Order: sequence, then structure tokens, then C-alpha cells
Amino acid sequence: MMDVGRHPKVELMTFSEVESVSGYVGNFKVVVRKKATYVNNKECTACAECAKVCPVAVPDEFQMGFSSRKAVYLPFPQAVPSSYIIDMKACLGNNPIACAKCLDVCEKKCIDFDMQDELVTLEVGAIIVAIGNDVYDPTELDEYGYRSFPNVITSMEFERLICAGGPTEGHFIRPGDRKRPKSIGFIQCVGSRSQKRGNPYCSNICCMNTIKDTVLLKDHYPEIQSTVFYMDIRAFGKGFEDLYMKSKAEGVKYVRGLPGEVEEDPATGNLIVTVENTTTGKIERHEFEMLVLSVGLLARQDSAALRHLLTLSRTSDGFLMESHPKLKPVDAPTRGVYLAGCAESPKDVKDSVTQASAAAARANIVLSAGRIAVEAITAHIDPDLCKYCGLCVKVCPYKAITPTDRKAKIPPRVIEAACAGCGTCGAECPFGAIEMHHFNDAQIYAQIDAMLENKPEEKVVVFACNWCSYAGGDFAGISRLQYPTSNRVIRTMCSGRVKEEFVLYAFRRGAPIVLVSGCHFADCHYINANRQTQIRVEKLWDKLEKAGVRPERLQLEWISAAEGQKYAEVMRAVEELRKKVTPEEIAFAKSALAPKKAKEAAAVS
Ligand code: FES
Repeated sequence: MMDVGRHPKVELMTFSEVESVSGYVGNFKVVVRKKATYVNNKECTACAECAKVCPVAVPDEFQMGFSSRKAVYLPFPQAVPSSYIIDMKACLGNNPIACAKCLDVCEKKCIDFDMQDELVTLEVGAIIVAIGNDVYDPTELDEYGYRSFPNVITSMEFERLICAGGPTEGHFIRPGDRKRPKSIGFIQCVGSRSQKRGNPYCSNICCMNTIKDTVLLKDHYPEIQSTVFYMDIRAFGKGFEDLYMKSKAEGVKYVRGLPGEVEEDPATGNLIVTVENTTTGKIERHEFEMLVLSVGLLARQDSAALRHLLTLSRTSDGFLMESHPKLKPVDAPTRGVYLAGCAESPKDVKDSVTQASAAAARANIVLSAGRIAVEAITAHIDPDLCKYCGLCVKVCPYKAITPTDRKAKIPPRVIEAACAGCGTCGAECPFGAIEMHHFNDAQIYAQIDAMLENKPEEKVVVFACNWCSYAGGDFAGISRLQYPTSNRVIRTMCSGRVKEEFVLYAFRRGAPIVLVSGCHFADCHYINANRQTQIRVEKLWDKLEKAGVRPERLQLEWISAAEGQKYAEVMRAVEELRKKVTPEEIAFAKSALAPKKAKEAAAVS
């Protein structure tokens, strides 16, 4: 942190928040709100005279509430810049009668109660998102008695208690009576790997963190007996297994099984843990003077605004989604934006540093190149056909279309550097004003024509997105899975490209069944473009029903690249549906779904 603070080419903006982001790769404009600290950080020498006279004491968040701080305080000992700030919620105010003692004692006159937030505009070529993570709060797990029993603490609180810079200056005591405990139990996977409460995923760091804590305890206090309750120990990193063995060799006990209940002995404050030892199959009771809950990691709960600003999406566990888990693990789906650390998934320091280095290198490629190659498949708006409705601007997941102005007749414009080519805008445009390079309407209609030219009643028209469903079909093929040959596949980059008219046209050309398939939600390679697919297909089902066409003839399925088996199953299922569609139904759909003008012409003749 010191290095970063001193680096001539790094501008560190602490106590700041991103207000808005506009632009695109190479040309981002970021507005940052530098919050008022009420202390001039260029002049402050952190002499602490202000804190000495401050009459307000509140729990110190950095010390997990084990000690207090003043309303004017240094956020933590290694803070950069090393400058005090004033917590205005706690401060008694600058009315001299109320307080303002800090103002009086500060020789350098750094205190400024009139300081205002400042908006700073930055022009940057790339953005790295490294927003960290939150920590699971185990209060909801009644059986462990966190917050009910003072000697039950979390692994985060343990870190503060054992740290030389902590509230007890590294003298390890239990909170209940400030005595040194002689026995400590550690419970693993608290809030992790649980389908019912907490999170279903593994938090990655907890096993090694606990092993490290037990070794640390043995180093400092060899007389303390540690016992770890675990499901299984995940020590897969370099040197991790050695540390695990060291911990065992030093006498730390490992019991396979997670406790079902923790009780407190009111006389001693000790904790009685009941656990099924799954190695022996026996129920055991253990008594400890202190219990540490090894809590899991959570995605940042307050990241919604930033996600919106940067058009980022998240996975089902709440962490930010990378562009591709194997090929682009540090790139966000928005070009020029990169992810580092626990913003993307739970990870330890080493992995965070590795990913941050990779993100910096990826950003550097963009910055040093000075120019970028745009995607070959991008959208193009024909200003002569545009009616300025602005629908394309609304549905673009990348904010790659400039706003339109109906009154001034200013059509929207595609920023090619930001366009990823999902085709959602083209599918939504009701006036046919948007075309996709290389996946244009004429090409798709031609494919429909070709596949339904002969015996259309025997065909199933399948729209498959390039990244998941089409790859799922490939996987089914290379896995030699058997499925009916009636399907005819049209590849689009995203299911969001499938416009209503493509489906209706296929029915008009005699298709008995049309299947639209794409990635599962949160897996779409164009942020959330497949949400528009869902909305569009639902509208189409209504339309078909109103026209008297069975909505089942239009199917929607989410198939991932790894789901070759599912692809084959879906093909078998749609083939069964196809067999039930009668020639009369096909003929009826042809006329019922004919364009209005064609219907009128038919009625006149
Ligand atoms: Fe597959 Fe969007 S990329 S649905």
C-alpha cells in the first residue's frame, strides 16, 4: 500500500466512490466522488493530538469492535495516506460550544469542518475492478451461539485478537473474561458449502486460514490445545499440504464432522460442542474455552451500482462474471474492463496478486497498443429507416448505442469499439433499421428458406447461440450421442439475435416446430442479452396463441456447451413434438401468421 501511495505514476484516491462511468474501451470517462474527510490530508502528520482531546468514543470497525476509536481517527495503523479523518456521524459538530476541541489543538490547522465532497473527472483507457468481498455473518446459525456466547468468535475476530497491531497488542485472550484460553475449537465451513443456510460454494481460503491460525497459536502459545472440526480439508496449493502436516505434527487435533450444537457452561463460560465424528461414526462431546467459527466469503453486497455503471453481470453466487472462465478469466464482458481478486470469486492473497498482475497486463495491452481492433460482428444502424424509438438504446447490454433524439431527429449511433455483436438491438428494432455484420437478416432468411425447401414438415428449425447451445450440439456430436436428424440449426452469436420475424417466417415457410436455444441465465456471453430472448419468446407465445397456433410449437431451451447430453435429449423431445403437428396445423399457421398486407391481399382476391 505504501509503495502504491508513493509511486509517481499511481494516483491513489482513498475514501472515494465512483459516481458515473461513460465511454468505452480506450475512452472511459469516470467521475469520482472524493468524500470530505474534514482533515487536510496533505498537512496532517498523524500526530494524534486531535484524537486525544476528542470526547466521542465509538466501536472501532477495524478492530472488529473489540476496542473503540474517536470520532476523529486514523482508519487503521497502515492507512495511506497516513492522515486522520472525521466520522461526521459520530462527531459532536463544529459548534464551538458543543465541541471543536480537535480544531483547537491541531497546530497545523488541518481540521476543516467546511470541507465538501469533490467530484473529479478522470479520462482512462481501461478499468480494473478490485472491489474485494464481504464476510459471512454467522448470527443466523443459532446452533453455534455466535453473539449469544461471548467466547464464540469468527475467524476475522480471531485475526484481530492474535495480531500485534490488534486491540490486545497480540496478547491472546478470550473476550468473555479476558483470560488466556487453554483449549480452542475451530469449526470449518461456516456459511460455506451449505445448500440450506449460507452459501453453496466453497470459500477457498478457510481451510488454509485455520491451519495457519493453529500453527500460529502453537508458535505463540504451545500450551493451547487446538481442535479443528471439518468436512474435508482442502489443501491444494503450493506448500499447503506441508503446512497441514506441520499443524498435525504439532499436536493440533482434526475431527471429521461439523458440530450440530454448541452450549455454554454458564459457570465457566466454556463451550460444549456436540459432534458426530464421521470417521468413527460416534457422537462426541468436546469442551473448549473458546470457539472460532471459520466464516466464508461473500460477494460485495453493495456492488449493484458499480455493476450497473460498468454493465457487469454476476454469477449465481453473486461474484462478478468474467468474459470466459478459461480463455478470458480476468476480462469482464465489457471491453476494457478487467477483474481482480475476490470481486470475481473467493481467493487467497497469492491468487489475488496473480489475477491482479494478469489484469494489469491485460489493461496494458490496450493502453500500449494505442488502438484496438473492433469486433468483426457489430451492429449497423440505417439512419433512413430509423424512427428514433430508442428501443435499441434500452436493450443494448453494453450501452454501445448513443441516445437518440426524436424531436431533433437524431438517430442513435453504434459505438463499434463498445459493440460486442450480440444482435439484441437488431432483433428488437421494429423498423428493420439495424443489421448485424456477417449475421444479417437476409443471410438468416436464406438459411430458413434453404432448410425448409424440401419436406418442411419433417424439419425442426433450431436457433442456437454460438457460445453455448451450438457448442452443446458440437459436444453431443463428438460424444457420438444419438438423436433424431430432423433438426436444422441456424447459428447466431447470441439467442438475443433471434428476432420475432425469423420465427414467424419459419412457421410461414411450413416449419412444424421452432426451437430457440441459448446459454443459461448468467452464462450469456453478452452480459444478460438472453433475458431479452426470454421476454421476446414469451411475447411470441402470446402472439401464437392469439393467432390460433399452438404455442408449444415454439420451444425455448437453455443448453450450455457442456450439456451435450441435454442437447440430445432436447432434440429427441422436439422430434416427439414435431410428430404430433398435423399438416392442417402447418397450413393454418402459414395463413394465420402471414404478414398483414399479404392477408389483406388474399382477402381481396
Ligand atoms: Fe448464448 Fe447469449 S451468448 S444466449
